[in-house]
Amino acid sequence: MTLVSSRTTAATHSLAAINRMDSTAFAAAFGKVYEHSAWIAERAFALRPASGFTSRAVLHAALVATVHSATEDEQVELLRAHPELAGKEAAAGTLTADSMQEQAVAGLSAMNAEGVSHLRALNRLYREKFGFPFIIAARDNTQAAIFGTLDARLHNTRAMELHNALAQVGEIARLRLLDLIAE
Ligand code: GUN
Repeated sequence: MTLVSSRTTAATHSLAAINRMDSTAFAAAFGKVYEHSAWIAERAFALRPASGFTSRAVLHAALVATVHSATEDEQVELLRAHPELAGKEAAAGTLTADSMQEQAVAGLSAMNAEGVSHLRALNRLYREKFGFPFIIAARDNTQAAIFGTLDARLHNTRAMELHNALAQVGEIARLRLLDLIAE
């Protein structure tokens, strides 16, 4: 069996190096922390304190605050930028490297055909009800937990799911930052 690390690549930036970055370098380094949504890192650069980010958690908080202060339309656009778990991008091989790792860690890339069609059916119900894809930080979860959570979250209101999905996107970002910042 191949073991997949929960950290996808070597950490690349020290806090000192991050605090010397200009806005372009910052967006290039952290644009991918939110799936296909580099605008978040671009805006979060303005939240860097004059004395610099003092920890990975402080930088993460600036990204989360940026998402929080975006409009609801922008938040929904962010959610819609995420692929469905075991969805068409996974089948076509067009996932980002981070997404591919996240789905593999949760065991989704090794799922049998029956599992894939069950997950796709639940994903379809979820998207029809809420207007955005089901998002859970796959790296934190097993296949069984993903199915159980998806079943449960289908019963929520849209407001609850907007909240849950944004929280999960924040968790995905936190995990991606583990790979990008040496502390
Ligand atoms: N869609 C649902 N969960 C995830 C996840 O953990 N990562 C990515 N990239 N997309 C998702």
